[in-house]
Amino acid sequence: MALMKVLVIGSGGREHVLCWSLAASDQIDKIYCAPGNAGIATQAECVALDVMDFDGILNFCAKKGIGFAVIGPEAPLAGGLADRLEAAGIATFGPSAAAARLEGSKGFMKDLCARAGVPTAAYGHFTSLDKTRDFIAGHATPVVVKADGLAAGKGVIIAQSREEATAAAEDMFAGQFGAAGSEVVVEEFLPGEEASYLALVDGENVLPLETAQDHKAVGEGDTGPNTGGMGAYSPAPVMTPEMCEITLKKIVEPLVRAMAAVGAPFKGVFYAGLMINDGKPKLLEVNVRFGDPECQAILPRLKSDLFTALQATRDGRLNEIALEWHDQSALCVVLASKGYPGAYGKGSVIDGLDKAEAAGATVFHAGTGLENGNIVATGGRVLGVTALGDDIAQAQSKAYRALDLIDWPEGFCRRDIGWRAIRR
Ligand code: AMP
Ligand code: GLY
Repeated sequence: MALMKVLVIGSGGREHVLCWSLAASDQIDKIYCAPGNAGIATQAECVALDVMDFDGILNFCAKKGIGFAVIGPEAPLAGGLADRLEAAGIATFGPSAAAARLEGSKGFMKDLCARAGVPTAAYGHFTSLDKTRDFIAGHATPVVVKADGLAAGKGVIIAQSREEATAAAEDMFAGQFGAAGSEVVVEEFLPGEEASYLALVDGENVLPLETAQDHKAVGEGDTGPNTGGMGAYSPAPVMTPEMCEITLKKIVEPLVRAMAAVGAPFKGVFYAGLMINDGKPKLLEVNVRFGDPECQAILPRLKSDLFTALQATRDGRLNEIALEWHDQSALCVVLASKGYPGAYGKGSVIDGLDKAEAAGATVFHAGTGLENGNIVATGGRVLGVTALGDDIAQAQSKAYRALDLIDWPEGFCRRDIGWRAIRR
């Protein structure tokens, strides 16, 4: 079989672990990444193209003879990059724009859940401020207010009072998140423990991945403002085989069938963000891509060839393959720039990455660049240090031992990644 040239789209830790996993495939002779980062450059040739520069990406694919594309982040998926690539004859891993609405429009997702009988928070979906205000006025608190569209993880407000909720809705309709806030979802606050359930879906067949949990809050003990994720581990003990089965049968399969029925079959990674309470999962959100940093904890455990699985997803052949996993647990700790998720500096030099790797961890880069031969920080989340162990506790101590060899005074991390799993 002819070897393939593959293009990965994105520049974060998720795209680094995707390139790292794909690099192990004997079916690929060259990986490109657009735009990539300083760590990704070890596995792939980085190409200076923005993920939203669809014309540039298409031209590049034609010029280099790209046979397969893998789209990491949600914005190009919601914008229709998979449709454009497929129309140009390039096999692509990632949903169409129509299917990416599951993440790109919370109102669409909630309405579909209501029709398909999928357990989720009770809600209202509004296109005007007046109706939103009335709904909030009659709602118990806390209450959750969400901008309908993509808002880089900032469009969800958990309001403790009706006043706070109303103010959040006013800001959204006033354009705080641009067009993403022209519709608003208001929903019941769900208490419980969050977990992520990820599966490959080929339009019809569902092939679950290993479970994972991330830590969204910036502070130890899961306190403080939400971030993109400060760390993750796999497996997630809260996702017992029974919980996985309920999630598959009551949440993922009904939504996959519903998407096919509305003419937007879902192909790609279906990421169900769950809230678990009283032994039952409810759907908080759908992401149409790998979670970041969940991906950095899940993929290092995959024994099977990732490229084979991504191709089977795209080709509608997931019923023909099975995935094999390492028994070991994985834990990823994120190192972020001081100040994140607020304002932070850029350009500080990071040392000691080789020492961390020599200590048995894999360092995935999320926001780094190369300047005068130095690795420098270029983003909020900068590195993800992943280690494997016989259990989560062992993976945790290995990850922190390696991370402590990294010399980067301008960075910080949480010291308690994995605490829920270890406490059990
Ligand atoms: P979302 O992007 O919809 O997942 O929301 C971001 C985060 O807000 C989630 O990961 C939860 O931590 C929290 N969240 C969202 N919706 C709810 C809800 N209905 N009840 C409690 N927490 C929520
Ligand atoms: N870690 C959460 C996400 O990728 O959305």
